[in-house]
Amino acid sequence: MPRQFFVGGNFKMNGTAQSISQIISNLNSAKLDESTEVVISPPSIFLVLARQLANGKIAVSAQNVFDKPNGAFTGELSVDQLKDAKIDWTLAGHSERRVILKEDDEFVARKTKAAIDGGLSVILCIGESLEEREAGKTIDVVTRQLNAVKDKLSPAEWSKVVIAYEPIWAIGTGKVATTEQAQEVHASIRKWLREKISPEAAENVRVIYGGSVSEKNCQELAKQPDVDGFLVGGASLKPAFVDIINARL
Ligand code: PGA
Repeated sequence: MPRQFFVGGNFKMNGTAQSISQIISNLNSAKLDESTEVVISPPSIFLVLARQLANGKIAVSAQNVFDKPNGAFTGELSVDQLKDAKIDWTLAGHSERRVILKEDDEFVARKTKAAIDGGLSVILCIGESLEEREAGKTIDVVTRQLNAVKDKLSPAEWSKVVIAYEPIWAIGTGKVATTEQAQEVHASIRKWLREKISPEAAENVRVIYGGSVSEKNCQELAKQPDVDGFLVGGASLKPAFVDIINARL
């Protein structure tokens, strides 16, 4: 079985009830590649609205979740609350949370584990800064981020994970990684899966690319053997998101 192509739309802290309803209405009526798994990730205040409006082919993801069960954690959302709202996915470890909110590898790993224990699937975001890339540390950084999650998950639990490789220097900058740069890191992530998790995980876990993906660059990226889809930020708010979902048509 080939890996199912996966396209996520990360709306970040953007949108209103009206604009998000419009985006979803466009997606519902568009002709989307049936073989692609589509997941949209609106801000938490719109998760329930998005789940109500999106058709059954479109999954909805939180952008974040807490690692503890319901309790005295002001401002956080629990895995149980997401499940209760019929939300099946969450992002974990987006670089904006790692960098701005100071989430470390261990915390991201704990959230990933809590989400999977509670029945969610996880888009696990990893990636290096420009400084780290220029110092030749890209593989070290993504390996360190992955190792933290490996310490918490059983090999079988990796079937609930989609790994999003998002070089920080490419996020929101318009500076997309070249197809070679993306393929090189994706291949090394797959090698890591084979050596550290299992041959099955290497075969089946989707490794998607994020960072300035657009309707212009998605087709070339999608041809790379180890690029199994995209996590799209800015362009997921635009009609061109449909073209990215249909990158392989
Ligand atoms: P971008 O964001 O497509 O706007 O670069 C990607 C992401 O942060 O997931």
